[in-house]
Amino acid sequence: MTIDYLETGRIIDSLTAGETDEVALMATVVCELHHADDRFDWTGFYRVTATSVLKIGPYQGGHGCLVIPFSKGVCGAAARTGEVQLVDDVDAFPGHIACSSSTRSEIVLPVHAGDGRLIGVLDIDSDQPSAFTRADAEGLSAILRSVFGRL
Ligand code: SME
Repeated sequence: MTIDYLETGRIIDSLTAGETDEVALMATVVCELHHADDRFDWTGFYRVTATSVLKIGPYQGGHGCLVIPFSKGVCGAAARTGEVQLVDDVDAFPGHIACSSSTRSEIVLPVHAGDGRLIGVLDIDSDQPSAFTRADAEGLSAILRSVFGRL
């Protein structure tokens, strides 16, 4: 199954209409994303909980590491730079943090509130190499803007 970002975005918008609690929004987003595409083997948020510190938020899949400083990992790179990280081969990414030995590729997107504040990152891991494309980055970014831009 391959995700239809427009349809999944419509479902998420409907499910979260009027909601502004970050955890409730994150839990709903990861649930709908994770089950929408066979490439998504781990889907989760890391939240900014202190200066330059990410802590795990709602996720689907095997256990994820609890704390990631902005200086480490693919998630830290997304938080530090504010740029989407598209990683075709996690073994080639300096400082990649392997929460699962089966992960081959990864996409991590910064998550901003409507006032521009960084509230966390969305991390999706795949056991397939080169699983993600710019189209995924654009589709996921549109969903994140719609859901968290209201905060
Ligand atoms: N791979 C991420 C860490 C999170 S686990 O994959 C859930 C990273 O390198 O930041």
